[in-house]
Amino acid sequence: METIKQTQLQNHAQFNLNFKVDKHPQHKRLYLVTICEEILDEFFKEVENIDLQRLKYVEFERFYLANRLNELVGDDFASVMTNILQDRKSGGFSLNGKSKFSSKTNFIKLSTAITHCVGKPMFDAMTGDYYAEFAVEHSDYSDTYLRSAYKSLHLHSDGAYEADTVDWLLMMKLDEQNAVDGNSKLLHIDDWKEQKVFSENPIGREKVKRQGAKSKNVDTPQYRPTFFEHNGSTCICFAEQNIKPKNMEQAIYFKNLFNSLEHSEACVSLHLPIGELVMLNNLFWLHGREPFKKNEKLKRILLRQRGRFIY
Ligand SMILES: [Fe+2]
Repeated sequence: METIKQTQLQNHAQFNLNFKVDKHPQHKRLYLVTICEEILDEFFKEVENIDLQRLKYVEFERFYLANRLNELVGDDFASVMTNILQDRKSGGFSLNGKSKFSSKTNFIKLSTAITHCVGKPMFDAMTGDYYAEFAVEHSDYSDTYLRSAYKSLHLHSDGAYEADTVDWLLMMKLDEQNAVDGNSKLLHIDDWKEQKVFSENPIGREKVKRQGAKSKNVDTPQYRPTFFEHNGSTCICFAEQNIKPKNMEQAIYFKNLFNSLEHSEACVSLHLPIGELVMLNNLFWLHGREPFKKNEKLKRILLRQRGRFIY
């Protein structure tokens, strides 16, 4: 796995006027990427006529957005983003898309440009598109914790039940009202003290049946190990709701793994303002969400994209 050059980042932090990369104030492993507002404004003006329906229908328009953003920002912006995501020591960044043209539509366009700078999003069967937009509200009628506002969305990686491996995911807060708490929870597995206890257990290397809930619209189960090696490092595939243990031994292993992750002191709570996205390497980061404070008028609109590296 390519290691990001610290000098490359420092140079951008100090000298580049169009974007900068700083250490994240809320997490020691994340970076905070800032694109200067004039560049964001220019980008949103240039792509004003490409609406969301066109982005859904015409795939090359998504890459066009990425190409324009990369050219406007300059200095190999796309490869800096890719290097951060592929750097095992980091593997993640957040970026705020606020400008004078801030809107839900423009946030979706920006997230599309960012994901296509590093790769290609997968089809999201939950919504039938390349991205999923969904609401978390006071009332919840779904079959997973994703929209259960007052329950913890436990630490997990994405896409265990999908046919393709999910290399990275992007989550963006598009809008919210009356939302108190509900921060993201993040864990880089190299900060998890008991990683070896579970990754060196033979059950952790066994292929286990993974099946998404009905709302995920993926019928065929996948059989995947929980821990595997990729580019010389241990990676994880874990989401408690889609694991189908074949016996008591496997089930107790996963119960203990779940408890160890949920009690890890290395799990960090991350507050995302409206218009901010966080992008993570899905092979060695776990993510989740803390419960919200109860409010009947609670509404948070989120966007997610998951995909593969192609560069
Ligand atoms: Fe997730």
